[in-house]
Amino acid sequence: MAQAPVNVTVTGAAGQIGYALLFRIASGQLLGADTPVKLRLLEIPPAVKAAEGTAMELDDCAFPLLQGIDIFDDARQAFDGTNVALLVGARPRSKGMERGDLLEANGGIFKPQGEAINAGAADDIRVLVVGNPANTNALIAQAHAPDVPAERFTAMTRLDHNRALTQLAQKLGVSITDIKKLTIWGNHSATQYPDIFHAEVNGTSGAAAVNDDAWLRDDFIPTVAKRGAAIIEARGASSAASAANAAIDHVYDWVNGTPEGDWTSAAIPSDGSYGVPEGLISSFPVVSRNGSWEIVQGLEIDAFSRKRIDASVQELSEERDTVRKLGLI
Ligand code: NAD
Ligand code: LMR
Repeated sequence: MAQAPVNVTVTGAAGQIGYALLFRIASGQLLGADTPVKLRLLEIPPAVKAAEGTAMELDDCAFPLLQGIDIFDDARQAFDGTNVALLVGARPRSKGMERGDLLEANGGIFKPQGEAINAGAADDIRVLVVGNPANTNALIAQAHAPDVPAERFTAMTRLDHNRALTQLAQKLGVSITDIKKLTIWGNHSATQYPDIFHAEVNGTSGAAAVNDDAWLRDDFIPTVAKRGAAIIEARGASSAASAANAAIDHVYDWVNGTPEGDWTSAAIPSDGSYGVPEGLISSFPVVSRNGSWEIVQGLEIDAFSRKRIDASVQELSEERDTVRKLGLI
């Protein structure tokens, strides 16, 4: 029997990440080459026409797996029956905006989207938040979807993970596939901590292979953590194709499992592991088994790493306090 299509909702579909993402979903890269998809695009009314243009282009690709495209400016309709929700559309920080203002503006987007997911999404719904501040936006959406298992709400740090892989591979002159078990901890922000102490490079420890503390501290960590800002500076716009690529990687691995002998990074609700307060949506080393993310347990965290993980987690706690005070969670 032919497989039923999977409904994938993409918010901010007419934006630049949307444009880089939709064609890859429709071609089968999000879920697998045998899985048909139906796209449900959510935009704000002024951007619906642009989304319609993208849908015309999707039609013009004649993707065999694409079984339909619907466009909405109403969240309840967009999430009705959806299996995978990619929450990309968000309110960008504008000049003079404080962090609290940004969180409040995004609360106006992610609260109703959480409610809409709660009201009508399919039982197996999986949510990936890409729109910034991604971790706390995910927390807001999750708080308004009490009937959906909390662990179905995740935020994207896979782009940071991929950035770290390339920086380390270039430093060591090895290929990406030679590196395993790298980790991004904490927030998708400049406080994130890319950790190579548990990484393996062709079987040896990543930190030992590098053997250069100054590079690790003053080059690798800040380069990865501030890469988003560096892209904005260079391109005049934030990362789009690489962000879309990371979203594809995150969902593909979540649904299909991570390879044996490796792990990846994703921001998922903390169960208290590694001293991260329960409930915070923080990046961890994770594997995906049977369709669920699991935090890799038992890693030893030295003082160098502890300080950096704690700083990023502290920022997440402060963001949570702010949205609590604003009544958003
Ligand atoms: P963009 O401005 O090009 O597109 C955003 C789109 O979202 C716009 O078309 C806008 O109309 C739409 N939108 C706004 N409010 C909406 C709502 N309530 N419902 C539906 N759609 C809505 O931005 P972009 O470059 O595509 O980036 C999107 C977000 O992703 C930004 O917040 C950006 O900071 C973030 N981002 C995250 C990562 C990450 O690694 N987590 C990486 C890159 C970018
Ligand atoms: C990125 O990491 O590229 C983005 O989150 C940067 C941004 O602020 O949109």
